[in-house]
Amino acid sequence: MDLHRDEQNTVTFEIVDRVAWVSFNRPDKRNAMNPALNRRMMDVLDELEFSEDVGVLVLTGEGTAWSAGMDLKEYFRETESQGLRGTRRAQRESYGWWRRLRWYQKPTIAMVNGWCFGGGYGPLFACDLAFAAEEAKFGLSEINWGILPGGGATKVALELTGFRNAMYHALTGENIDGRKAAEWGFVNEALPLEQLKARVGEVAQVLLKKNPVALKATKDVVRRVGTMTYDEAEDYLVRAQEAANSYDNEGRKEGIRQFIDEKSYKPGLGAYDR
Ligand code: ACO
Repeated sequence: MDLHRDEQNTVTFEIVDRVAWVSFNRPDKRNAMNPALNRRMMDVLDELEFSEDVGVLVLTGEGTAWSAGMDLKEYFRETESQGLRGTRRAQRESYGWWRRLRWYQKPTIAMVNGWCFGGGYGPLFACDLAFAAEEAKFGLSEINWGILPGGGATKVALELTGFRNAMYHALTGENIDGRKAAEWGFVNEALPLEQLKARVGEVAQVLLKKNPVALKATKDVVRRVGTMTYDEAEDYLVRAQEAANSYDNEGRKEGIRQFIDEKSYKPGLGAYDR
């Protein structure tokens, strides 16, 4: 058995029209995240982040699962058997790529095609937008096997939905489907599985038309201002815009020019012609 190749195969991707379609690829294990997958995902993210060929990243899963959360055997049992060193290493590897994804250079979309459990909430929240199949199932199943929703999952649930929903979800371990996940705010929209990819592709195309510097600045500020007071946010946003201007002196001037001088588009109705 070629161990390196096995690790390589835990994540696959293809780039089509500047969209990187990245897939969890352990369908036989319902795409549970084992250490090999976590390491491979970091490498894939690394490879795609500054690639000229990629403008948007979509994260999805092969087979019937998006991700059945952490691999109970390989992520928990086998790493725990190596003591604290093993546990901490496994945590660094998983939390590491989720963090990388939260602050990714390009906009990211979770395309939740099926099961999404526990640790799966980390990458779900890390993606900027999320679309689910109505048939998908979301669950904080930790309570069902005797732990609390760790690895950020509790925080994610509370961040995305209200206190009562989050508490019920975490205490009962009851699953919700894609439709309910949209109602609760876990995802932007739910639609029948056979329409999911087309819809995500459509959203990706919308994002690809925007100014990439503005996209990165915008996704970061939406994540950052949540914990700030109004005044802190106001001040931070002024500075964030000025910092973005220094990377992109021409783009926004062109945006203003096409609206004010050329009258060729309206920012309220669409993006300027890049
Ligand atoms: N960890 C390890 N192995 C897993 C996991 C997992 N999280 N999820 C599925 N698998 C394995 C199964 O052990 C099985 O392996 P085998 O073929 O070698 O026996 C294989 O994947 C297929 O799983 P089935 O249970 O047969 O698939 P089914 O489609 O019937 O059910 C379901 C899917 C509901 C997702 C089920 O596999 C399941 O409950 N998985 C665990 C979900 C979970 O609680 N994850 C942990 C969340 S908590 C956390 O992440 C911290």
